[in-house]
Amino acid sequence: MAEAKWVRAAGLTLAVPFILVLARLVNVRGAALLPPPGTARHGDPPGPDALQPLPARTEPFASFGRALLIPLPRAEQRLSLQIDYEAGEGPGVCWLAPEQTAGKQKPFMYTQGQAVLNRSFFPCFDTPSVKCTYSATVKVPEGFVAVMSATSWEKKEDNTFVFEMSHPIPSYLIALAVGDIVAADVGPRSRVWAEPCLIEAAKKEYDGVIEEFLAVGEKLFGPYVWGRYDILFMPPSFPFGGMENPCLTFVTPCLLAGDRSLADVIIHEISHSWFGNLVTNASWGEFWLNEGFTMYAQRRISTEVYGLAYTCLEAATGRALLRQHMDNTGEDHPLNKLRVVIEPGLWERGINPEDTYNETPYEKGFCFVSYLAHLVGDQSKFDAFLQAYVNRFKFQSITADDALGFFLEYFPELKEKGVDSIPGFEFSRWLDTPGWPPFLPDLSPGDALMKPAEELAELWAADGLNMEAIEGVDITAWRTYQLVYFLDQVLQKSPLPQGNVEGLSKMYPKISRSQNAELRLRWCQIILKNDLEAEYSKVKDFLHSQGKQKYTLPLYRAMWAGSEAAQALAMETFSATAPQLHVNVQNYVKKILGLE
Ligand code: BES
Ligand code: ZN
Repeated sequence: MAEAKWVRAAGLTLAVPFILVLARLVNVRGAALLPPPGTARHGDPPGPDALQPLPARTEPFASFGRALLIPLPRAEQRLSLQIDYEAGEGPGVCWLAPEQTAGKQKPFMYTQGQAVLNRSFFPCFDTPSVKCTYSATVKVPEGFVAVMSATSWEKKEDNTFVFEMSHPIPSYLIALAVGDIVAADVGPRSRVWAEPCLIEAAKKEYDGVIEEFLAVGEKLFGPYVWGRYDILFMPPSFPFGGMENPCLTFVTPCLLAGDRSLADVIIHEISHSWFGNLVTNASWGEFWLNEGFTMYAQRRISTEVYGLAYTCLEAATGRALLRQHMDNTGEDHPLNKLRVVIEPGLWERGINPEDTYNETPYEKGFCFVSYLAHLVGDQSKFDAFLQAYVNRFKFQSITADDALGFFLEYFPELKEKGVDSIPGFEFSRWLDTPGWPPFLPDLSPGDALMKPAEELAELWAADGLNMEAIEGVDITAWRTYQLVYFLDQVLQKSPLPQGNVEGLSKMYPKISRSQNAELRLRWCQIILKNDLEAEYSKVKDFLHSQGKQKYTLPLYRAMWAGSEAAQALAMETFSATAPQLHVNVQNYVKKILGLE
């Protein structure tokens, strides 16, 4: 039930009394006003006589949905509406056939709300500037389990599940999944959910470690308010590494590397429990407030758990991704600002809220938050600021101006010094100028891990390989991110002299035959950049095995920029895998391949 509030993002001006929500539903059958609270016994559903039908109509809004307009009989501060609707096919609601699951036995459905997809799941003020609690009753067929991003869930008779989220959250965080899934405990307030064939692997991957991440997060950023922190392993076509649905993070099964090497994704999603889910960007144009602060929080937790050297190494791989992204789009691309203008009228011209999912809000955002920490100059003072920030804005949606205003208020001595207008580093420049970050945090504490990888990449990029030097480097003990960093260096130097990549492939089966998704992505990029036709099947296999957007798009871009054979590989792979991909990912690939 919603209060009558105006939707900031809607861009439509309407006279009160109207209520406007956004919808992209199969069918809105009708709307009705419910009796005012207090006139029925609490918890009783209102009888049909108590409902006052209202004529709902829809108007064009954007390619992302329609405006649903419901005229109200009187202007009231608070009112309750009932909207009858059907949701079905829609970008936010994904229906998977049994073959698209890990077990291949039963179908699966899930919803993905971020950024503006939940309007195809239920009518809502689909903007992160509005928060509400919710409850849901979900009936599923025999043999299926329903889970939601809720603080409580209960199984009732008749395959019915009842959920409640007791804290106010933005619409994009409401999520549902239904499948043949089972759970296993991995900590005092955490369990993993997965299809039965994956549950052992899921439990083994994270048994006993989640609690440590949560405890460090609480120590740094304040209480974890959401009660449980559970993880749902999604089918392989899930388009993200992770999605921070409160109480129940959704993750790609690619994280099941067997060695916890990809736990940074879990730490990232846990960090959203404070940055994003408690303090939320008021508009998708300031997505960096969610992701930049979360990257910073993730790396703070990682530093406490794994140490500074490892965390700097991981951050260096993030910086490489930002470099690749800016090279791809051009530094001056309007999306390479932290504050992006998103207006419904502009969406058709290419800036739509989904496009903000790129490296800029993450890694340039991380640099900006690191710059703020650098201005403060003392880690424990900055940690205390982050905790105060969460406390000040929890359960609210804020703008960058709110965040930065609070920063200056919290550190009046910095405000006095005018740190917001230091030439070249103006806060407004950070926010509104596209391009490479004006400040990069010092990652040299990771040198002991990075230098050997850089040197080895040098050796492999040389004409006439120095095999003695190469054989002198023992990579058997290298951590996954060290190998990732090494491969990023090799990729940057590619194409290598004739024969070198073949040699590298033979020398390190640990890399070229790895099942670790982050290594597979880099290896496939290297294959394509060096046009190693003999290993094309690895690219194909990887793209058939999963549908994560951040793995899929770079590979299609690389194929399309490559030889005729690489382009043919792209077409062939896409026609075989398209039905399995999330519609957003499908559309992005079509754009790359010029199919639209
Ligand atoms: N909230 C994002 C995923 C997202 C972003 C979904 C935009 C829809 C639109 C999530 O927290 C995220 O950032 N995931 C990353 C994890 C990584 C940075 C460790 C991912 O999926 O790659
Ligand atoms: Zn995130």
